[in-house]
Amino acid sequence: MEKMWAGRFEKALDKKADDFNSSLRFDCRMYAQDIRGSIAHAKMLESVGVLSKEDKDLIIDGLTGIKADLDSGALAFDTGAEDIHMFVEAELTKRIGDAGKRLHTSRSRNDQVAVDIRLYLRDECKTIRALLKEAIGVLVKKAEEGVDVIAPGYTHLQRAQPISFGHQLLAYAMMLKRDYARLLDAVKRMDEECPLGSCALAGTTYGIDREFTAQALGFSGVSENSIDGVSDRDFCLEIMSALSIVMTHLSRLSEEIILWSSWEFKFIDLDDSYTTGSSIMPQKKNPDMAELIRGKTGRVYGNLMALLTTLKGLPLAYNKDMQEDKEGIFDSIDTVKICLEVLAPMLATAKLNKENTYRAAQKGFINATDLADYLVKKGMPFRAAYKIVGTIVGECIRKDCVLDNYPLDEYKKHSELFAEDLYNEISLETCVGKRNSRGGASPTSVRAQIEKLRAFLLAAELGE
Ligand code: ARG
Repeated sequence: MEKMWAGRFEKALDKKADDFNSSLRFDCRMYAQDIRGSIAHAKMLESVGVLSKEDKDLIIDGLTGIKADLDSGALAFDTGAEDIHMFVEAELTKRIGDAGKRLHTSRSRNDQVAVDIRLYLRDECKTIRALLKEAIGVLVKKAEEGVDVIAPGYTHLQRAQPISFGHQLLAYAMMLKRDYARLLDAVKRMDEECPLGSCALAGTTYGIDREFTAQALGFSGVSENSIDGVSDRDFCLEIMSALSIVMTHLSRLSEEIILWSSWEFKFIDLDDSYTTGSSIMPQKKNPDMAELIRGKTGRVYGNLMALLTTLKGLPLAYNKDMQEDKEGIFDSIDTVKICLEVLAPMLATAKLNKENTYRAAQKGFINATDLADYLVKKGMPFRAAYKIVGTIVGECIRKDCVLDNYPLDEYKKHSELFAEDLYNEISLETCVGKRNSRGGASPTSVRAQIEKLRAFLLAAELGE
């Protein structure tokens, strides 16, 4: 296929260089957005008298037909084109003749691609937000199942204090809720500056109406500097950063799922449909999905680092380096989507083993803080109580006891404040049940969090 710019050259582009230069194999996924942008541009050109109504109608019909044929597969991507923008324009001209050649008036691929990526990201981020809501919904449901499931809470991966297992699950729901807001925020900012009309870099001498195209394409405003308009990829960085944070959260949750499903913990059983066997060890049931989510986090971080590095040091305005923005961000989007799609049902089908979480909570002296608090409530200063309980824990370890079955007369050797009621005060049920401070680990608090998250999900649904 002859290049659009062939007139200026005496020789054709080398085949290898041509392949190297071409972005069609990956930017073809923005065809719908490219066509949407072109239709808005054609309408605007007609509205300011640059295009005739006939040409505009021909262009819109032609583009609509191309979109339908690409959707149905009747039209295949011609790999001879340099990129999706050239492909659509060439196909349009093939279909409608001269009118097709008028579409690119007062436009450059530089502002065209800057619009296309934004439209594409807006659509994809909406899908990701829906997936985040779904995952939050699953966490809320599981937390509801786990409200009265007592488990050890950890610090340093050492048993620390007893919690409702639902509380731990909702910690992840809170993270994903912020991820949702972060993505929405990034998209809102991106949508404030439609770059269309920046043209190659310097705007145009045509009397174009940039507000017209911005509005038609769902932007809330236009970029105020044409050089910035074609050079800005901050929005890609912001979205990739938000996606990296999503992966951090999914990876941490996956790590816990891997731990919880191991024989060492057995807090949960993953469903057979989300686990795999081993080719040699007949007994194995591996949490591959969770491991893959944890593993794929690296590539999403890597994509962000790659684009930061690509952009660093680029002179203004457009440089071909910027074509490198797409593969990474597309990969980050695909990765986050597939991870959320797998994570939600994996979690939804997992079973909580409340006997095991309870048994784990009985070991590790996780009610020691509560025993100290018992003395404090009877008038002892916290630091003194803390010291006494530490000594008692040491004795228990040596005598192979736990606080719950350590005899009262032994307790009394350390303080006269100890009485029979201590056993009730340090029972796991009391320890968890009384952790009613706002945001605490008690079932009441977990129920309040569930209500809040449900309200958030509802509001998010209505807001989309
Ligand atoms: N395929 C190009 C990209 O993705 C489109 C913009 C090309 N602009 C140019 N002046 N060669 O960045």
